[in-house]
Amino acid sequence: MTHHHIALIPGDGIGAEVLPPAQQVLDTVGARHGFGLSYTSYDWSCERYVREGAMMPADGCAQLRDKDAILLGAVGLPRVPDHVSLWGLLIPIRRGFRQYVNLRPIRLFEGVESPLRRATAGEVEFVVVRENVEGEYSEIGGRLNRGFPDEMAVQEAVFTRAGVTRVLDYAFELAARRGGKLTSATKSNGIVHTLPFWDELVAERGAAHPQVAWDQEHIDALAAKFVLDPARFDVVVASNLFGDILSDLAAAVAGSIGIAPAANLNPEREFPSMFEPVHGSAPDIAGQGIANPIGAIWSAALMLEHLGHCRAARDITDAIAMVLAKTDVRTRDLGGSATTTEFTEKLLQLL
Ligand code: NAI
Ligand code: MG
Repeated sequence: MTHHHIALIPGDGIGAEVLPPAQQVLDTVGARHGFGLSYTSYDWSCERYVREGAMMPADGCAQLRDKDAILLGAVGLPRVPDHVSLWGLLIPIRRGFRQYVNLRPIRLFEGVESPLRRATAGEVEFVVVRENVEGEYSEIGGRLNRGFPDEMAVQEAVFTRAGVTRVLDYAFELAARRGGKLTSATKSNGIVHTLPFWDELVAERGAAHPQVAWDQEHIDALAAKFVLDPARFDVVVASNLFGDILSDLAAAVAGSIGIAPAANLNPEREFPSMFEPVHGSAPDIAGQGIANPIGAIWSAALMLEHLGHCRAARDITDAIAMVLAKTDVRTRDLGGSATTTEFTEKLLQLL
């Protein structure tokens, strides 16, 4: 029997409430499809930061290195600055394990109301491929003259030929497999060095994937089109910052940020990949047992897909779709009154 060793990082707030449902679902499909999963849980979080002064131990990444994948809940506490949780845990893992693709599928499920009147279930289904290790999220820069009137901050965006090319190739290959088309997010009219370079590389990689039709849109116009006509998109590829913003917007279009999953992929599989819901620790509802577990459960499905269990992954997304389409069991963010546990039980039943 195939066996996978998974690292679990529940994190803070609702992170710890949505991972157990994901684990239950994983064990259920594992038993059916004949693979086993074992888990090692890590308490790395803002809570740990408050207690011990660091989000994770100094050898944190080394402890994860031999796992087959990482499943993360969410990190964030109101009294800990957000850059601490991001740069103390998520970014070191993404960069240390060269998870240069951030994959965020978007789907408007039947039975879920989009805030957009004209968005139709079955039509809105696309993927945002976000560059995940360079671009605008760079450590290069600094602060000068703190506290004086001439105080200043400089932050450099970093776009490398190797870094852009590999994420574009991933996105073009994904578009080819889906038989669809690709849209590149740019802003080469205003950002005159990095994004014209991005555009050139898109044209170059586009020529190398002649079976994929592609176009490009400036990020501002693209944001408007996500709202006006989300059904037109199939694969959207974007830099680190643009992809982050677009994928939250797309998750909102699909009805709730509580649904959206994300995969941080090392496509070469030299290192473990990490799977996490798009949402954060939601301190406003933490501890109440009402968090929507779909984002975490769907992230677990993405993990299984990456581990080669596509049919098991499909079972999970089918079960999610079925609960939403055929029952009125849903959590409060989707207009229902089910608790996390009640929703999970219904999903396990249909699974
Ligand atoms: P958030 O995603 O935690 O919450 C935004 C809103 O959506 C809140 O009203 C929340 O109740 C609701 N929401 C989110 N997930 C939900 C779910 N599964 N079910 C039902 N409702 C849900 O984003 P926010 O408030 O900006 O950030 C809170 C904390 O989370 C911050 O410390 C932030 O840094 C952190 N964060 C962490 C992320 C991660 O671990 N990858 C990602 C985003 C934010
Ligand atoms: Mg975000």
